[in-house]
Amino acid sequence: MNYTVVLPAAGSGKRMKADKNKLLLELSGKPIFLYTLEVFQRDPNCDAIWLAVKEQERELIEGYVSRHNITKVQGYAAGGTERQDSVRACLEAIPPCGVVLVHDAARPFIDKEVIERLVETAQASGAAIAGVPVKDTIKKAENGVISETVDRNQLWMIQTPQAFRYSLILKAAQAAHNDGFMGTDEAMLVERLNYPVAIVESTYENIKMTTPDDLIYGRAILESRLQEEQK
Ligand code: CTP
Ligand code: MG
Repeated sequence: MNYTVVLPAAGSGKRMKADKNKLLLELSGKPIFLYTLEVFQRDPNCDAIWLAVKEQERELIEGYVSRHNITKVQGYAAGGTERQDSVRACLEAIPPCGVVLVHDAARPFIDKEVIERLVETAQASGAAIAGVPVKDTIKKAENGVISETVDRNQLWMIQTPQAFRYSLILKAAQAAHNDGFMGTDEAMLVERLNYPVAIVESTYENIKMTTPDDLIYGRAILESRLQEEQK
């Protein structure tokens, strides 16, 4: 099943505490966002890649895209103040298609089987998001004292990709914008329209490069993948 992917890449990476957009930081000699682009360039089911970028970084990013032969990039949208604005700008720019995948450019380790299951589920039911079961015990606290231990059997840590039928996510993104609603992921925008969202189990390796310690883990993941390939 074919799809178009939208990659928000217009953040500033404040929590990474680098002096530039964290996506430009290198892991084994290549910027983080390029690993993410390569996953979709390699996936035969991916028809088109759209990126939300900051205007002042566009030329730099375009340079990497052309030098590394990422031929599926079909266009760029101007990043907004919040991630949700960046995603909406892309959704409004892409030509209508069947299934759209929204994926953080900051998650370079996404598994291609997970992508496939997300796209198939979204095609069948409209909306499917990646997540992994919560591993830790989760408690709520009020004023420093535990008020509740939450049953973790029903809890998931949500990631991207999040896959949707094009018409559904465009409608949900525009409705959120018109209503002044800000969500922390795309699924929330669809959930508020009372539309069911399916969950697809992903991998714990699909981390978002967010804080400096993620770079250490990211390098270790790359290293172990390289060793696997050489076996
Ligand atoms: N993003 C975006 N536009 C924004 C904010 C974020 O396109 N206005 C993108 C980021 O580039 C990243 C993804 O959304 O690929 C996930 O966001 P996050 O991890 O929060 O990245 P940043 O916002 O860059 O980091 P921070 O919140 O630490 O500043
Ligand atoms: Mg952010």
